[in-house]
Amino acid sequence: MHPNIEQLYTIANKPTRRILGLMSGTSLDGLDIALCEVKDSGAKTALKLLEFTTVPYTADFKEKVFPIFSKQLVSLEQLCLLNPWIALQHAAMIKAALMCWDVKANSIDLIASHGQTIYHAPKSLHPNDEFGPATLQIGDGDSLAVATGIITISDFRQKHIAAGGDGAPLAVYGDYLLCANALENRVLLNIGGIANFTYVEAGSSLSQIIASDTGPGNTLMDAYVRKHFNDMLYDKDGIIASKGTINLDLLNALKSDSFFEMDLPKSIGPELFNLAYLNTAQIQSNTESISKEDVLATLNRFTAETIADGINKCIPPGTQFIVYKSGGGAHNAVLVKHLVALLPNAKLASTMKIGIQPDAKEAILFALLANECVAGTPLYAGEKATKVPITMGKISFPN
Ligand SMILES: Nc1ncnc2c1ncn2[C@@H]1O[C@H](COP(=O)(O)OP(=O)(O)OP(=O)(O)O)[C@@H](O)[C@H]1O
Ligand SMILES: [Mg+2]
Repeated sequence: MHPNIEQLYTIANKPTRRILGLMSGTSLDGLDIALCEVKDSGAKTALKLLEFTTVPYTADFKEKVFPIFSKQLVSLEQLCLLNPWIALQHAAMIKAALMCWDVKANSIDLIASHGQTIYHAPKSLHPNDEFGPATLQIGDGDSLAVATGIITISDFRQKHIAAGGDGAPLAVYGDYLLCANALENRVLLNIGGIANFTYVEAGSSLSQIIASDTGPGNTLMDAYVRKHFNDMLYDKDGIIASKGTINLDLLNALKSDSFFEMDLPKSIGPELFNLAYLNTAQIQSNTESISKEDVLATLNRFTAETIADGINKCIPPGTQFIVYKSGGGAHNAVLVKHLVALLPNAKLASTMKIGIQPDAKEAILFALLANECVAGTPLYAGEKATKVPITMGKISFPN
């Protein structure tokens, strides 16, 4: 047997595995690194978060990645060069984190690397019937494995696409493994660059669960703040939005896109929800001259309403449920206030309430997918997700 396979076999047979989950979402804010101890697999999975950090991306990193991020036309050379380069940057961030935590690389069994999403193209974005949905994450797994000396599982989304899915959202699998509950109807809401939720009805099986993107999370608000408020990266705690007034004409124009009419589940990215989208809505609604604060207040409300509409679409009226929120947008007080008002049948709580550090949640979910890849069985989230049960991730060895 090849020693690599032998090593993997040993890891697969361990009662617990130490897995480093990595997440870098569409906000391009930094790399989330979650050191997890994962016991068992499938329905018996138990996860303990040992360490967590977000390493912010430097201005230099963002300057290199932004030109090839969610744009139809980019330099193919730059895209090609960044594929191993991002992996090496991530490897350096991992090594620094391990040193800071006083954890040896050889005590880690696996890295679970999401990679950096460069382009996400669900069918709704390209009506060309010749092509199905597609998505591209870079930061090559082989480079990461060789640079860290740790077996790396990466590129999780391609199997979802290959099996008839959209490549997103993948949170449904980990949300089920970690959060399913016999008594409580739970919505796991993650407000990252894009907002997505998983509805886990009490006592349901994985194949009965609904998970979908709802539209923008922070992406539109972030893009607007970066353009119009000097040196600010995002609307911290929603302070700017709280100074503005919601403009109903603009709000209606923002909500008029056919994406919001589509049935769940669906996925989307900043390829649609960007400043050009806002600009079109402002022209349509004749609101180009309203104040920046009013625009941000409206974008905030737009984000909240589309999240609430998505959730309300899949939960029968009158059902009581709890929304466990995570992701950077959960820190936006104005957004959360809107959500509380828009979801009268729900209680809102942090995922911390069910033992999951909210900022670490997405990285944890990928650690779980890597665990399933080596020690679990294929997962089936129902025919609306993929046609067949799947195991996600590609395995890269350090040598
Ligand atoms: N205190 C805060 N107040 C308001 N917004 C915040 C705050 N902290 C973080 N955010 C928002 O959260 C964003 C980062 O969120 P997060 O890291 O969850 O998203 P992501 O990297 O796109 O991941 P993913 O899309 O996969 O969930 C920031 O860009 C910012 O908009
Ligand atoms: Mg992030």
